[in-house]
Amino acid sequence: MRVYLLVALGLGLRIGSISAQSSGVSTPANPTDKDKNRSFHPGELWYDTAGDLINAHGGGVLQMGSTYYWYGEKRAQHQEEGVNVYSSQDLYTWQYQGVALPPSADPQSDIAAGCLMERPKVIYNKKTGKYVMWFHLELKGQGYKAARAGVAVADKPTGPFRYVSSFRPNGHMSRDMGLFVDDDGAAYHVYSARENYDLRLARLSPDYLTATAQDSLLFSKHQEAPALFKTGGKYYLITSGCTGWDPNQASLHVADAPFGPWKPLGDPMTGPNAHLTFGGQSTYVLPVAGKKDAFIFMADRWNPKDLKDSRYLWLPVQFKEGHPTVDWLPQWNLGFFNKPTKQL
Ligand code: GAL
Repeated sequence: MRVYLLVALGLGLRIGSISAQSSGVSTPANPTDKDKNRSFHPGELWYDTAGDLINAHGGGVLQMGSTYYWYGEKRAQHQEEGVNVYSSQDLYTWQYQGVALPPSADPQSDIAAGCLMERPKVIYNKKTGKYVMWFHLELKGQGYKAARAGVAVADKPTGPFRYVSSFRPNGHMSRDMGLFVDDDGAAYHVYSARENYDLRLARLSPDYLTATAQDSLLFSKHQEAPALFKTGGKYYLITSGCTGWDPNQASLHVADAPFGPWKPLGDPMTGPNAHLTFGGQSTYVLPVAGKKDAFIFMADRWNPKDLKDSRYLWLPVQFKEGHPTVDWLPQWNLGFFNKPTKQL
């Protein structure tokens, strides 16, 4: 009797896990591990509060009051399924808020299903009270030829976002990109142009819906995946090389103003596999609310065979000799930023 029960239980568990996998809905590997909800585990499976794997690649985070919103590419095995949004109060546990911007059912739309909406970032415009999303748009069936920036807008951080337009900023190709809002409310679009050889910066219009003609070349070093942040009056930019989904060496630049001049500071990563960004590629640097000089480096460890199964690397930025560095840590929590050793 006991044997039967054990066998049945074992079989039930196995069948349970197989059907959970095939439906794409999974339960935490170890739901009793409370620690998973109180620390970051770079490169490991990361589940939302409903027990589903977080699907928000090439993403960025917006903080509004005590809530963080994580936007990222919703991926099937390869196909783009729009922009997902999650919310969190603590940065460890994320609640799924749905698809903030789905591809359009209208085949004539720029964002018709089958297009690519990559590296979405959302910023809040204090003057208009709107949430503005920019993303890298590739038109359906054209591979990476279109090289456009796409813009969408919403009244609430969770959307729904309304698609506004897409364009090449000031005529320049625009692929990997990021957004940055300065202390004075001026917003910028940092983007890979000219077949990714150039990295450019464009100041946005006051409503953040388009690029102004204030648009300059920052440097020409074949870089992408830009993540711009500011601390202590300095602007920092982390970028990757251009090797598609494969990881490569990261670069750090510093400047006194958004348009530069930008000075190279080398590779900010340290630790095992640092020269390949720990197998990842930068996407955003997240300022942690209420903590001085507390930033989280966010990267994607892409799985080109199954893009939705790409993993997230979130690591603390440390300031060594005044410069940001990112050390590999297999596990850490926000208490890290309280340690005096943070500034070495
Ligand atoms: C990477 C880029 C990704 C995606 C990929 C496609 O270089 O950073 O966002 O576009 O290429 O191969």
